[in-house]
Amino acid sequence: MCIAKLLSLALLLVSATAAAQTRPAPEAATGRLQKTETLARHEMVVAANPLAAQAGLDILHRGGSAIDAAIAVQMMLNLVEPQSSGIGGGALILYWDARQKLLYAYDGRETAPAAARPSRFLNPDGTPMDFRKAVIGGRSVGVPGVLRALELAHQAHGRLDWGQDFQPAIAAAAAGFAVSPRLHELLSQDSVLPQDPVARALFYQPDGQALPVGALLRNPDLAETLRRIATDGADAFYRGPIAEAIVAAVRGHPTNPGDMTDADLANYHAAVRPAVCGSFRLLRICGFGPPSSGGIATLQILGILQALGPAKPGPVTPQDIHLYSEAARLAFADRDAYVADPDFVRVPVDGLIDPAYLAGRARLIDPQHSMGHAEPGEPPGRRGMAPPIGFGPSEHGTSHVSIIDRDGNALSMTTTIESAFGSHLLVGGFLLNNQLTDFSFLPERNGSAVVNRVEAGKRPRSSMSPTILFDATGHLYGVAGSPGGSVIINYVTGSLWLMIDKGYAPLAAISLPHFGSRNGLTELEADAPISWESALEAMGHKVRRLEMTSGLHVIMRGPQGWIGAADPRREGVALGD
Ligand code: DON
Repeated sequence: MCIAKLLSLALLLVSATAAAQTRPAPEAATGRLQKTETLARHEMVVAANPLAAQAGLDILHRGGSAIDAAIAVQMMLNLVEPQSSGIGGGALILYWDARQKLLYAYDGRETAPAAARPSRFLNPDGTPMDFRKAVIGGRSVGVPGVLRALELAHQAHGRLDWGQDFQPAIAAAAAGFAVSPRLHELLSQDSVLPQDPVARALFYQPDGQALPVGALLRNPDLAETLRRIATDGADAFYRGPIAEAIVAAVRGHPTNPGDMTDADLANYHAAVRPAVCGSFRLLRICGFGPPSSGGIATLQILGILQALGPAKPGPVTPQDIHLYSEAARLAFADRDAYVADPDFVRVPVDGLIDPAYLAGRARLIDPQHSMGHAEPGEPPGRRGMAPPIGFGPSEHGTSHVSIIDRDGNALSMTTTIESAFGSHLLVGGFLLNNQLTDFSFLPERNGSAVVNRVEAGKRPRSSMSPTILFDATGHLYGVAGSPGGSVIINYVTGSLWLMIDKGYAPLAAISLPHFGSRNGLTELEADAPISWESALEAMGHKVRRLEMTSGLHVIMRGPQGWIGAADPRREGVALGD
């Protein structure tokens, strides 16, 4: 794209942004919260709960770096948003170190215990287990990785003491906080948690009703757990009494026990991975590579759209949604065939995002008619293919954190315990994940091994898509990410595309009804205009409407500083100065 075009695009973004600063986003969907963009010159924290974002901003004010703030945010999220993330789960962290001008990718994804076997989620007759039955209990629990990943990143980029970053959450866990509407709603919907006496005493009233909105929730067990980790480091979690309590809970589940051992916890290591980067228009976009499928899929979708022609700024049309959905279909076909833990499977990352390969994939798209279902391609460097696996249901067990500090360091962290309240095992005031259900339940299909089958010590494939953007001169341009299961890829990529190609301001982009495909039906958010649906059907799409509870948290560079926006579908906020 020529510079003149980029400038006109930038202007469009600027004018849309200016409008958004004075006007809140429209209440486009039922249940959406009224939000405004936040403008900051120096530093910004966007997180899923106001207390968590404030904890991060306070740490920045005390001289902390983006990773110090992220630790404070994560610990507070564990307390106030226990359904979504915490030290019992995993996280993928992209960190831009402004002084070194280097981008780091810290992999805190959970691992399968050493005793795990490919048949883990099969019934005795060889059929896949019922998903919900697999989730609840010890079988689904992966060795948590959040603390090791934060520790590794803190050793490299932290400015405050590790223990100092835990203080806001420790204080709040001891003193208590007001239950939010979202936590109340998810507790009310849950039928398993109230059966556990400890969880019931923590989250419910004596009559079994969830604590009401605004009730004071104190979590002294979590305060004590965090105090130990603040004092003795992550080792206090991976060895000793906390580790023993985790193993006992996982192995001791009465109907669905797991096989995690002390050694699994003691041997857990976070990994430093290469970030996956590519060009889109005049920007450089970096995402998380395997074991996540997010970064590759984002670059594939955008790369295919780029191959289809120049940007056409303006309001999104059904024709745009058609092209986007076809590109997403192609990306999901490759994702299912090729992407899994890189320590177990050779993933042809470079081939999958190669512009010539993507141009070939783009040629498969008919501008007037949907292909319906895409087959995986043959990227350069491929070796063996596995058939696609199914999709999990829409979930609430993940959170995204975006931070920029005053030195220009940036953090994009998606953090998860997988489903809402994870495995429902509560230990030391925190919940254990059910991340192992992100593996394929079927170890093989049509005689081929599925790349994402369960194996001992392996990380399940993720769709988490923490993303950091740079401009043509290599300067930081933005940070983005979202929860949402495998739809994360479309939430993040669709929003970036709306901002970069269509000229939407950040809040307008993340507020628009979602669209896309995961190589099944074409998906529209429940409140999407009926005109989109009929136009897509006329192009041969089979359309499915669904609730699409993204939690997009973005920071983008604007003319006067950083523009932060939190998804109106959840309780998050952007705070900065
Ligand atoms: O890693 C993944 O892709 C999933 N475990 C993320 C789950 C998720 O986003 C649930 N949702 N809100």
